[in-house]
Amino acid sequence: MTRRALIAGNWKMNGLSADLGWAQDVCAGLPHPLPGDVVVCPPATLLFPFKVALKDSVVEMGAQDCSCFKGGAFTGDLSATMLKDIGCRYVIVGHSERREGHGESDANVRTKAEAALSAGLIPIICLGETLEQRESGKAEAIVTQQLRHSVPQVHGADVVIAYEPIWAIGTGKTATAQDAQALHAALRAAWPYEGAEALRILYGGSVKPDNAQDLLAQKDIDGALVGGASLNAQDFLDIIKHIA
Ligand code: 13P
Repeated sequence: MTRRALIAGNWKMNGLSADLGWAQDVCAGLPHPLPGDVVVCPPATLLFPFKVALKDSVVEMGAQDCSCFKGGAFTGDLSATMLKDIGCRYVIVGHSERREGHGESDANVRTKAEAALSAGLIPIICLGETLEQRESGKAEAIVTQQLRHSVPQVHGADVVIAYEPIWAIGTGKTATAQDAQALHAALRAAWPYEGAEALRILYGGSVKPDNAQDLLAQKDIDGALVGGASLNAQDFLDIIKHIA
């Protein structure tokens, strides 16, 4: 089975209206036809301007988080339906920065993924181990457990998984392509539902133009969730060019 590659840019808490030229630069530099999917996940404040800037473009939009609730008295939160309404196709859930900084558990992540699916969004469900867990040889056990507890019962094609080792995020350290491949293969083997072969598993953690080729060439690495390097249009394009 061939899975369609996906490169997603997670802008995190970066970006102002002055940075919208990115959309034009990326759209102008993309290969035609595009051999995969490209998504930008800007901060919520830029979703509407990006929707306008990306009109008629193949670049799709995602949000960085959503509430598990449909609506109501949840000050500061955004529902999956609101994100769909503004033009998102994807939403990241369970990023380690939310698991760690906002105390989100696997169960919270699962309910958010369920809310995303019922609103018609594709959740990008993030998993990853700490450095201590990796060094003690527990990475695979931890991450496959997160998979089992964070993912609602779905067919593999309905969601996207992002494996992001926490020690590789924003540090300039990446998993070797071989280690990342081994973990991705373990995740696919541990997928508890139908459709493991259709499941797209992205790698994230210091993906840059100079390491993307090796990572994306691996059999079970179906794309990348890119943080820092996605802020620069040329770097993002230089990563995208490695999808086959
Ligand atoms: P960096 O690419 O900046 O390491 O961030 C990865 C990430 O957390 C994407 O979600």
